[in-house]
Amino acid sequence: PTSLIRKIGKFALYSTLGSVLAGTGYVSYKLYKEKNPSPQKPQSATFDNGSPRKTLVILGSGWGSVSLLKNLDTTLYNVVVVSPRNYFLFTPLLPSTPVGTIELKSIVEPVRSIARRAPGEVTYYEAEALDVDPVAKTVKVKSVSGSDADAVRDLKYDYLVVGVGAQPTTFGIPGVFENASFLKEIPDAQEIRVKVMNNIEKATTLPVSDPERKRLLNFVVVGGGPTGVEFAAELQDYIDQDLSKWMPELSKELHVTLVEALPNILNMFDKSLIKYAEDLFQETKINLRTNTMVKNVTPTVITAKCGDDIEDIPYGVLVWATGNAPREVSKSLMNRMESQNSRRGLLINDKLQLLGAEDSIWAIGDCTFYPGLFPTAQVAHQEGEYLASVLKKQYKIDQLKWHTLQNSNAAENDKLKSKVEKLSSQIKSFKYNHHGALAYIGSEKAIADLALGESMYHLAGSFTFLFWKSAYLNMCLSFRNRLLVALDWCKVSFFGRDSSV
Ligand code: FAD
Ligand code: NAI
Repeated sequence: PTSLIRKIGKFALYSTLGSVLAGTGYVSYKLYKEKNPSPQKPQSATFDNGSPRKTLVILGSGWGSVSLLKNLDTTLYNVVVVSPRNYFLFTPLLPSTPVGTIELKSIVEPVRSIARRAPGEVTYYEAEALDVDPVAKTVKVKSVSGSDADAVRDLKYDYLVVGVGAQPTTFGIPGVFENASFLKEIPDAQEIRVKVMNNIEKATTLPVSDPERKRLLNFVVVGGGPTGVEFAAELQDYIDQDLSKWMPELSKELHVTLVEALPNILNMFDKSLIKYAEDLFQETKINLRTNTMVKNVTPTVITAKCGDDIEDIPYGVLVWATGNAPREVSKSLMNRMESQNSRRGLLINDKLQLLGAEDSIWAIGDCTFYPGLFPTAQVAHQEGEYLASVLKKQYKIDQLKWHTLQNSNAAENDKLKSKVEKLSSQIKSFKYNHHGALAYIGSEKAIADLALGESMYHLAGSFTFLFWKSAYLNMCLSFRNRLLVALDWCKVSFFGRDSSV
């Protein structure tokens, strides 16, 4: 028995050492590959057969555009990416950043590193698209950085993909833009963090009985969709798990209020999950105000309608998360075309082609409106993948059309034309495959509506939180992001969240 135990001990020791070495080797290899992508071949304006390489302009560097870029054979086009943001942002973990559960750098990936990994050359302009002329096939862009900042120029395109996302909506409610913070981009998360930390420090200088202290310590989130819920949950976690240790007395005075106009929060989830989330909020003392519609905002007070009553709620920090509205560039494109008569987003057909410019413009992600397709990362990602396969077929069609133009033999041209028709008919409609929805609801618990085949499964609790974590780790864009996010989670569980600005 002693020798058996020794053998088992040796086996365990060697297999642990083996796994550690293999793991370290794998991590080093992945990091090396990410830092040193294969060299890119410079591309000429024409292919070897003399046919022109068409220019494909992609607007945006978000979920839709980056998914397209990652799946596209960039050797087939002269690819130009235009975005004011030179990185991709992994939005599902953005609500974790203002309180420091996740560091901002862990959830961004530079556009240039994504472009470098593409097989063919990709040009990137750090610029904002102002307007699109679908007749002249030009995009007016304004540089946002460098020596030519603010310079406006026209970019010519053969094909255009609009993936500019959406901006936060305020429904025109007075005072929102001036006084609230949104949670859409990196600077928003930074702004919220500064406001939260400053209010806490300011409040400590005031006597406990001062109503100003009470106001400063009331953090209000408006909008009970997933953005508002996840952020309110993160904020309450920060108070319960970290501030309660560093500032035990003050942490008891902090209140998180979540305001929702409808009778329930998280309306896209199953009823049982909504109830689970609402019960948990009650337990964790998040002040949930449903049936409460904000009507006006001043620098210190929000005015809301609750049933027939009008109520003033003083606040210290206000985070506004009431959904999406089209961006200016989408609005100006809509105004140019009669067929674009929706105010909710760019209208597209089942092949994601823009109504009114079907031959040259596609639109994907949050900037579009199509019944049954919601403004989620999941939809934008799948649309990007689909479009990459469409553009591959489109390249073949364009090549056949070019050969037709070069050819004077009528019989051969007929053959080429029928090939073009066959290929065109092979471009099928976009089919969205819904995998489900996940949301973090605080206290290390999450909810999940999972779609497996025809069946839906509703999960909630701590196990679902582990599933939420592994799903988001898996969805991260790069190995580097995955590692940094995992390290952030470890760091917080050992040392807690940082409370400096
Ligand atoms: P975006 O990802 O917003 O990208 C738009 C891009 O266009 C950006 O790069 C932007 O800089 C660029 N751009 C803007 N204006 C211009 C211009 N004028 N010219 C050129 N480029 C421009 N969805 C989920 O499925 N699961 C989640 O867990 C989830 N969590 C979320 C959490 C938060 C806090 C938020 C805000 C959203 C979340 N979403 C989630 C929704 C998801 O992020 C969006 O549906 C998704 O980002 C849409 O992708 P998109 O490519 O259309 O737009
Ligand atoms: P949302 O549109 O999902 O929810 C906004 C909420 O604000 C609604 O419930 C609405 O009733 C409420 N509201 C509107 N006006 C109000 C007012 N004046 N006063 C009080 N409440 C008001 O918006 P959200 O959360 O920003 O999400 C945008 C998109 O991003 C959605 O499609 C969502 O599914 C997606 N998303 C998904 C996540 C996930 O899957 N975990 C996380 C975050 C966003």
